[in-house]
Amino acid sequence: MSLYAPANAESVFTYGSPRLKFGPGSSSELGFELASLGARRVLLVTDAGVAATGAPERIVKQVSDAGIETVTYASTHVEPTDASLSDAIAFARDRGPFDAVVALGGGSSIDTAKAVNLLTTNDGDLMDYINAPVGAGRAPAKALLPLVALPTTTGTGSESTTICVLDVLDQHVKTGISHPRLRPELAIVDPELTMSQPSGVTAAAGMDILCHALESWTARPYTSYERKQPEQRVPYCGSNPVSDVWAEKAMRLLAGSFRTAVRDGDDGTARHEMALAATFAGMGFGNAGVHVPHANAYPIAGLVRDFRPDGYPSAEPMVPHGMAVSLTAPEAFRFTFDADPQRHLDAARMLDPTVEVDVADPSGVLPSVLTALMRDIGIPNGIGAVGFGPGDVDAIVSGTMKQQRLLATAPKPVSEQDVAGIVERSITLW
Ligand SMILES: NC(=O)c1ccc[n+]([C@@H]2O[C@H](COP(=O)([O-])OP(=O)(O)OC[C@H]3O[C@@H](n4cnc5c(N)ncnc54)[C@H](O)[C@@H]3O)[C@@H](O)[C@H]2O)c1
Repeated sequence: MSLYAPANAESVFTYGSPRLKFGPGSSSELGFELASLGARRVLLVTDAGVAATGAPERIVKQVSDAGIETVTYASTHVEPTDASLSDAIAFARDRGPFDAVVALGGGSSIDTAKAVNLLTTNDGDLMDYINAPVGAGRAPAKALLPLVALPTTTGTGSESTTICVLDVLDQHVKTGISHPRLRPELAIVDPELTMSQPSGVTAAAGMDILCHALESWTARPYTSYERKQPEQRVPYCGSNPVSDVWAEKAMRLLAGSFRTAVRDGDDGTARHEMALAATFAGMGFGNAGVHVPHANAYPIAGLVRDFRPDGYPSAEPMVPHGMAVSLTAPEAFRFTFDADPQRHLDAARMLDPTVEVDVADPSGVLPSVLTALMRDIGIPNGIGAVGFGPGDVDAIVSGTMKQQRLLATAPKPVSEQDVAGIVERSITLW
């Protein structure tokens, strides 16, 4: 069912994913995998917080035991910027050549590794490849090195996707580089690497999983687009039968484990299920796409004043990506409800099998499941709690309206007034 009805409807959807190795202990096979790829000298990209856990040191030792030299870059900026990516690229150009890249960390490290891989194998600079209109939107002409991604957070799914997200500082805009060549060759998802995530990171990154699953599940169906020519196809093709499978599975896993993983980070079963949920949701949204909550998240993160969340480096203010996405999600799904009521109610039941449907206000069912979860895991109660007020609505709306690539995936048309309503109602959620 869709509110869109094109005359020449699309009948084709696509699906792409990296090779996957999943499970406790799987990261101990990295040396074998790199040797199988023919690598002799690799760049390891990580960040200071992950380095402090000792995981990169163990990885370097294990890779060295397989006869492979590693050069480590541990200065990834948490939530990369054009400046931080340029520093990482300069480091890699100076210390290369390499024959594979390894990312060990959350989305920040994996995205940094994608940019470094792109700019050490292809000519030009970062702005050439950033999505238009912010950058020139150039496609990489040459193949990249094999990238092996080992996520240490349970969140972004970046190990599966074709995107690198970054802040362009002088334009105050969060945007991305998106091309199939950026997708990692192999994702090694070892839940043991995620056990040391601080509780605040588990909560925010977990809301990113939840929104990936919900937004791809409710995304505009692939059949609601005009038929594309082969050369017009993009990785995000709208909700489809394959992405639906991943989204459903992710939501059911989150229902069982999210609260436990935030409350008790030593619970191995919860960590395992969160890692599976992140992987599943990544495989889903990486093909279907995301919409309104992600579009709102970009200006919310970009316009931050002095909010400093628990569990993240305190040197700079930030609204972490997953938290920024979640803060307008309840109101965004109230807005999209009428595009497909059944999907919204099904999602609410997957996330909370005990939920009662209020027949007087069915559009409020999914929002109430989301706010109950957010309250339980310590997510702020709206954008007001991270420093925004009514005077910021216009700036947030203007930033959201620039994310047309994401808004186009929403299950119904989204006007400036619609976004303003969602943002205003998200100042205080409960
Ligand atoms: N490319 C994509 O498909 C995609 C999708 C969603 C989000 N993103 C991007 O990913 C970034 C967010 O990534 P994230 O949420 O995974 O977090 P992150 O990589 O930003 O890390 C958050 C914090 O957690 C710490 N940390 C990570 N793993 C840890 C561990 N196991 N133990 C202890 N500390 C740990 C880090 O040091 C950091 O301080 C944002 O820039 C976002 O825009 C990318």
